[in-house]
Amino acid sequence: MGEGPDDEGTPRVGTNLASMMTLSEVGIDFERANAARIYDYFLGGAHNFASDREQAARIVAANPDMPRVCRVNRAFLGRVVRWCLTQGVDQFLDLGSGVPTVGNVHEIALRQRPTARVAYVDFEPVAVHHAREITADLDGVSVTQGDLRRPEEILHDPGVADLLDFDRPVAILAVGVLHFIDDDLPAIFGRYRDALGPGSILALNHGSSDQDDPELAESVRAIERGYRGSATPVVLRDRVQIRDLLDGFELVPPGLVDPAHWPVPNPSEQPVGAYAAVGRAPART
Ligand SMILES: C[S@@+](CC[C@H](N)C(=O)[O-])C[C@H]1O[C@@H](n2cnc3c(N)ncnc32)[C@H](O)[C@@H]1O
Repeated sequence: MGEGPDDEGTPRVGTNLASMMTLSEVGIDFERANAARIYDYFLGGAHNFASDREQAARIVAANPDMPRVCRVNRAFLGRVVRWCLTQGVDQFLDLGSGVPTVGNVHEIALRQRPTARVAYVDFEPVAVHHAREITADLDGVSVTQGDLRRPEEILHDPGVADLLDFDRPVAILAVGVLHFIDDDLPAIFGRYRDALGPGSILALNHGSSDQDDPELAESVRAIERGYRGSATPVVLRDRVQIRDLLDGFELVPPGLVDPAHWPVPNPSEQPVGAYAAVGRAPART
């Protein structure tokens, strides 16, 4: 672990000595677990604290499948990015981008399209710090510390407004994040939708206990219980509420499905108990 207090008790973050800073300087609360660092832990990352690992243990006690749920989520994100590139969409606004780990959006996008652009947004300081650290030398990538619930601020932030050309299609990615937000998501995403031109994409997923299989529904409720007491409790929505987030977009086949099975069923992967969907902004009439 490269995190936590140093030998003199000064809290630090970052594995790169030159970039280390005190936790208080960047506003990190390392006493209270949060979604960014718990997810990093489940994916095998090193940017998490004892509080995150203790909360992760409670989540796994409630649902032992949780590490796989995270891996399936991450794999869905990668497939969506690759699919966007096949559609000619090479600008990404990644909301709730998380602590960088394997298969980061900019790595996938820049490998296939060196002129691609990726604007990362997260409100969690460890995620932002590490993302800045690994992308500092890259053209076409920005990292903004911001709260996606404030679309005006996000869309006008120089990291977003100066990097992405909204006259061309942009893909908004809201993956693994919306079930941490207890707010009026349709209103928030209506504002993002209004900023997008024709051919733009909204790709999202969201945990849901609205499942036909009662065991799967219970496994999702168990995850919700496991996150209680963290800085980012889980809010479950039903499939109609999740579909409504794509209001104003044309739903791309196969529509609303478990992330394990987007865009095609994967016989070797069990569903995780979420809904994933991709919408395309229609031509203006
Ligand atoms: C589980 S991680 C998902 C990371 C990445 N999108 C992925 O799917 O691999 C959720 C991320 O959303 C971020 N997040 C939660 N609420 C947010 C908000 N209101 N604004 C910005 N980021 C938020 C958390 O800090 C965390 O990094």
